[in-house]
Amino acid sequence: MKFAILGSGTGSNAEAILKAYRAGRLGNAVPVGIFCDIPGAKILEHGKTYGVPAVQLDPGPFRTKFSPEREAAWAQAIREAGAEWIVLAGFMRVLKAPLLDAFPGKIINLHPSLLPSFPGLDGIGQAWRWGVAVSGCTVHFVNAALDAGTIIDQAVVRREATDTLETFAQKIHEQEHRLLPDVIRRLSMRA
Ligand code: GAR
Repeated sequence: MKFAILGSGTGSNAEAILKAYRAGRLGNAVPVGIFCDIPGAKILEHGKTYGVPAVQLDPGPFRTKFSPEREAAWAQAIREAGAEWIVLAGFMRVLKAPLLDAFPGKIINLHPSLLPSFPGLDGIGQAWRWGVAVSGCTVHFVNAALDAGTIIDQAVVRREATDTLETFAQKIHEQEHRLLPDVIRRLSMRA
């Protein structure tokens, strides 16, 4: 199962995936490329460190979506890298037909809350401000609706009285770094 990682920022989840791959913990899954929409984003550095091609591609003029032409160009570049699957790991742009149709049922996303609660931006801050006792993270299939595709798995994090937003976020990120590589491994065993 060859897959591409799409990300926009720090790439700590991309790094967790690449570390798991290097350690032989990714089953039959093979990362073939990292694709980033933000020039100079740290995620691009992980490509060099782990020997996986990493490129920044132009998404078009919008902030949270692609232009249709650019999304088609991304789909083509990802296909040409040999990917059959796409893993969204901190990718802050919604996908539409050009990518969804090119990889039907083969795109997964990581989200930092227990969906369907707190979709959209800043899932961790939204849950914190609501005052939840538990939150966590979700890996789900991607469809045309925002953060609403079929859930594959979730991990739960408890908010303790001693937590700050920072420690709460840290615990959610730790669970993300464990959950996402494990879901990729499990999908690769059945793909
Ligand atoms: C992660 O917490 C991920 O769940 C979130 O962005 C962060 C990326 O961190 N994704 C979303 O909010 C998607 N809506 P990273 O760049 O260090 O992997």
